[in-house]
Amino acid sequence: MCGIVGYIGKSPAPSILINGLKRLEYRGYDSAGLAIIEDDKIVVAKSPGKVASLQERARADWPTERFKTSSTGIAHTRWATHGPPTEVNAHPHLDQSGGIALVHNGIIENYRALRARLESKGHTFHSETDTEVLSHLIGENDKGNLFQAVCDALHQVEGTFGIAVISANEPGKIITARRGSPIVIGVGDGETIVASDASAIISHTRQVIYLEDNDIAIVTANDVEIRDLDQVPVTREVAELGFDSDAAEKGGYEHFMLKEIHEQPESLANAIRGRLDFNLGTSVLSGMGTSARDLSEIQRVVFLGCGTSLHAGLVGEYAFEDLADIHAEVQQAAEFRYRNPIISRSDLVVAISQSGETADTLAAVREANQKGAFVMGLCNVVGSTIARETGRGIYLHAGPEISVASTKAFTCQVAVMLMMALKLGRGRRFSREEGLKLAREIERIPELVERTIQQSDKIEKIAARYAEHEHAFFIGRGYLYPVALEGALKLKEISYIHAEGYHAAELKHGPIALLQKGTPVIALANDIAGKDKTLGNVEECRARGARILGVITEGDKEAAEFMDDFIEVPACHPLVATIPTAVALQLLSYHIARARGCEIDQPRNLAKSVTVE
Ligand code: F6R
Repeated sequence: MCGIVGYIGKSPAPSILINGLKRLEYRGYDSAGLAIIEDDKIVVAKSPGKVASLQERARADWPTERFKTSSTGIAHTRWATHGPPTEVNAHPHLDQSGGIALVHNGIIENYRALRARLESKGHTFHSETDTEVLSHLIGENDKGNLFQAVCDALHQVEGTFGIAVISANEPGKIITARRGSPIVIGVGDGETIVASDASAIISHTRQVIYLEDNDIAIVTANDVEIRDLDQVPVTREVAELGFDSDAAEKGGYEHFMLKEIHEQPESLANAIRGRLDFNLGTSVLSGMGTSARDLSEIQRVVFLGCGTSLHAGLVGEYAFEDLADIHAEVQQAAEFRYRNPIISRSDLVVAISQSGETADTLAAVREANQKGAFVMGLCNVVGSTIARETGRGIYLHAGPEISVASTKAFTCQVAVMLMMALKLGRGRRFSREEGLKLAREIERIPELVERTIQQSDKIEKIAARYAEHEHAFFIGRGYLYPVALEGALKLKEISYIHAEGYHAAELKHGPIALLQKGTPVIALANDIAGKDKTLGNVEECRARGARILGVITEGDKEAAEFMDDFIEVPACHPLVATIPTAVALQLLSYHIARARGCEIDQPRNLAKSVTVE
């Protein structure tokens, strides 16, 4: 949520900063800005809207020479928390003197009290943001040593921050620090890049250092010195980024979302590769703990997540109970720590998060750790905070997900949870033969998804018939109930159609009142247990004039009869079917949103990686 990039080195900073912001734009795109040091002065450009507007603004307002000379700067793309997305609220924010500039991700919770105190001392604030208070506080503490001033200021703030700060008086350095909001430092050859996310760094270097909470670093072109907030030196390893810059490009697709939908056969193959054991009919997931004793002690599994990851957790709940015969439940991560959950040492808590940075999920992980649970992460972003704080877990290997709407992370999350359930199941009730059967079905997932994606053109034609509606209902039961929720979320977030997901049986308990002639009902009626009952619910909707789009199993003529339109997905194990069915709904949402002319990769009001509660 919000993106930070800072550059110091041998090349002109402005274009590097703007290109970095473009890579981070999926993190927030309400407004953007940058600050550079030129002739011992801070120069700022800001604009509401996207990074392209900032680029135009800087090109229009700045002399061409400025783009060539300065080699130190910081920049930001914003997802508004405090104050609307106006130019004045855009980062960077300056201190009272105008000699210090700051970009900030996170929230300064005590900013009102700090602001009042600074105002009483004569400070004038221009924006409504919490961030401007921090820049003034740093300026207030600066007695000729920027590092010291930032440390002192950070000791006074409550809340979360990932920051980068420059000072006209110390042009050869950037000070960066984190607490609850990620900062990665790219170590190049005579240049150093600070960012909130590695995708802004990958085109410069693969060598990175992840800051830990309460780390503060003095960054120069050739050196990175890290201390804690009490100024005690700390050592952080230099890690190698595991993806290349092509992964963060659209690669010929019109949108990142479409690219990421199409990448799924490969992402899923990567998530599954080497993790199935066809000898023993189980899966090999060392991240779950290697000792069989550990696993047999588990009495209950609790999945935590938000949004799409929460929906994946719901599939996990079904999978663990059915396959592993273990009590499982999913909890909304934001609620978890506030409800004083009952957690014991025999609970396995699985935090599901694509980004590994979602604030609510992270807070829930900390709560579960406090309560002594066996906590593990299911993250996509390597080195992310949740992955590091859980200490054990399984990476999805889905590759970078840039589109705000999550697609390949969801299907990889489900695939990994099926493998986890298989492993636990083999330790409990599954015979080798049953395990083997499921392992073979999991192995087919990439091919099943490929076959579903091949129907994209057909789905596009169907989508055209649903694009004009303002409401839609998704229904499913059993394993497909969470997929109905996910289908509705995908449609609403990228097309702005009001979409609701319901258990198929639940419609008649209220929502059916909303059905009118032509209201779209997307019915997940794959040939799995409960299909007949779902078809009965479809009839109830048809009787009220709804237009039914079914997702059905390939060749199921009986189910096709019930539908006005239908999309077929290949026959497979009923739990595995959740994956191609979700892919069909991703394509449906994509084509509807495209037909409506929506900004698919960057839907309004949203941002990827929600690092505020
Ligand atoms: C929806 C979407 C969000 C995320 C949610 C959790 O398409 O992407 O609902 O799933 O914000 O994000 P992560 O998985 O990064 O914790």
